[in-house]
Amino acid sequence: MDARVMESETSTDAAQWTQLCLLEDVTHGDGLQVKVGERILAVWRVDDLAFVTDDTCTHGEASLVATGMLDGFSIVCGLHQGEFDIRTGEVRAAPCSKPIRSYAAAVREGFVLARLAE
Ligand code: FES
Repeated sequence: MDARVMESETSTDAAQWTQLCLLEDVTHGDGLQVKVGERILAVWRVDDLAFVTDDTCTHGEASLVATGMLDGFSIVCGLHQGEFDIRTGEVRAAPCSKPIRSYAAAVREGFVLARLAE
C-alpha cells in the first residue's frame, strides 16, 4: 500500500466523528489519502492541525494528495495548478470554479477524526 493512502477502520462515535488515521501518519505540510467506504478523503496536516477534504479535484478528477502540493493552507492541484483552501474547500485559483467538500476535523488522543455525515 502506498504510504500516502490508508483505509480507515471507520469507527464512528455517538457524535458522528469518524476516526480516519493517526496524525503521525500524515507528514507535516502534506496530505494522506484515506478511503472510507466509497469516499476518498484527503487528510492534510499543517503543524499539529489536521484538515479533511475530498481528495478529488473538482476540475479534472485528479487526486489532490497524489498530484498536489500544499502551500500553507492551500492545496495546489498538480494537473492544472487550480487551488483550494483546505480549511474551507473554497477555490483560490482557476481553472477550478467549484469548491471541494471540506469536513469538520479534530485531533483526539493522536487520532484524526472527521464529521462525514454533515
Ligand atoms: S484537475 Fe485539478 S486543476 Fe485541473
